Amino acid sequence: MAEQTLPAAAREWQLAARPQGWPTPADFALVEKPVTAPAPGHILVRNEFLSVDPYMRGRMNDVKSYAPPYQLGAAMLGGAVGRVVASDAEGFQVGDAVLHGLGWREYADVPAAHAVKVDADAAPLQAYLGVLGMPGLTAYAGLLRVGGLKEGDVVFVSGAAGAVGSIVGQIAKLRGASLVVGSAGSDEKVRKLVEEYGFDAAFNYKNGDIAGQLAKAAPEGVDVYFDNVGGEHLEAAIGALNVHGRAVLCGAIAQYNDTNPPAAPRNLVQVIGKRLTLAGMLVGDHYDLQPEFVAEMGGWLRDGKLRFEETVVDGFENAVDAFLGMLRGANTGKMLVRLG
Ligand SMILES: NC(=O)c1ccc[n+]([C@@H]2O[C@H](COP(=O)([O-])OP(=O)(O)OC[C@H]3O[C@@H](n4cnc5c(N)ncnc54)[C@H](OP(=O)(O)O)[C@@H]3O)[C@@H](O)[C@H]2O)c1
Repeated sequence: MAEQTLPAAAREWQLAARPQGWPTPADFALVEKPVTAPAPGHILVRNEFLSVDPYMRGRMNDVKSYAPPYQLGAAMLGGAVGRVVASDAEGFQVGDAVLHGLGWREYADVPAAHAVKVDADAAPLQAYLGVLGMPGLTAYAGLLRVGGLKEGDVVFVSGAAGAVGSIVGQIAKLRGASLVVGSAGSDEKVRKLVEEYGFDAAFNYKNGDIAGQLAKAAPEGVDVYFDNVGGEHLEAAIGALNVHGRAVLCGAIAQYNDTNPPAAPRNLVQVIGKRLTLAGMLVGDHYDLQPEFVAEMGGWLRDGKLRFEETVVDGFENAVDAFLGMLRGANTGKMLVRLG
């Protein structure tokens, strides 16, 4: 077993209390744990970038869901990339770059079967947490497979300046959408979407009247709605969808911190008359698309046809702030934490 000098202890972020409504820093605890050599079949990884994602808010609740709840008093889970610093697993060497699911800690003892080697020469390591990782595949599979994007479609995407949304809008343009509209929560994000990401139109939902702003941006209606937000956005989209329109229900971040369930879109009856398809999606069902996703996205990236942005918060101790900031819209593109 090859090994580097390891520190005696390292830190991890634990869930200290289940948040009620919006999480606060008091719901989390930074805890020091001994660092030990990896068990047989494991690798020890020094994490370099951690992902903070909206779905983590759901895992803080003690409810049955597609992913089990985080345990109180235990390190949280999440995507991370880093380098192997000790290996007792066949096929993994010290220095290998890996992607795995034991984020929220400085050092991770990862079963080798749960780690994927990534090519640090092909792309910056952290891209495997964003454009070339789970959020990128969510955008790709959601729009193309679940949404069935066709050339000439009018596409509307909410959360358009985020990790998933910014990729959805660009793939839509690259695959022949006739009009791509995005919504986001600041005038600066709206400016970027149009001037830098190639969206045809964008609006700031915080200015209100989402349905009115959408009607103005897409006067001929919408064929595919990619929903990252839920609530009023979904209602506006149902109103704007054309006959046989499709909505990809990817996320509902507007309600993740609600303590009372929101009313359903009040215009749901329109789904019948317009023969709409509202399809929920989970990225985990679409990893069979990984090879074509990597090939097509990789090509677009190499050709400079796809932009991606990262908002990087420095310092492991700031990971909770990064997570809370992401929930409030502090990020453009993928929100990441860089470890020193
Ligand atoms: N189904 C799946 O498999 C899957 C996989 C990945 C992600 N998702 C979902 O996709 C969505 C986007 O995820 P992401 O990782 O790309 O996150 P993200 O968009 O990079 O970050 C979250 C963004 O949500 C926006 N937001 C927060 N509160 C909002 C509200 N009340 N109304 C409208 N926008 C609000 C903020 O931007 P503004 O400044 O624009 O408000 C914030 O930047 C989330 O709903 C997530 O749960 C689903």
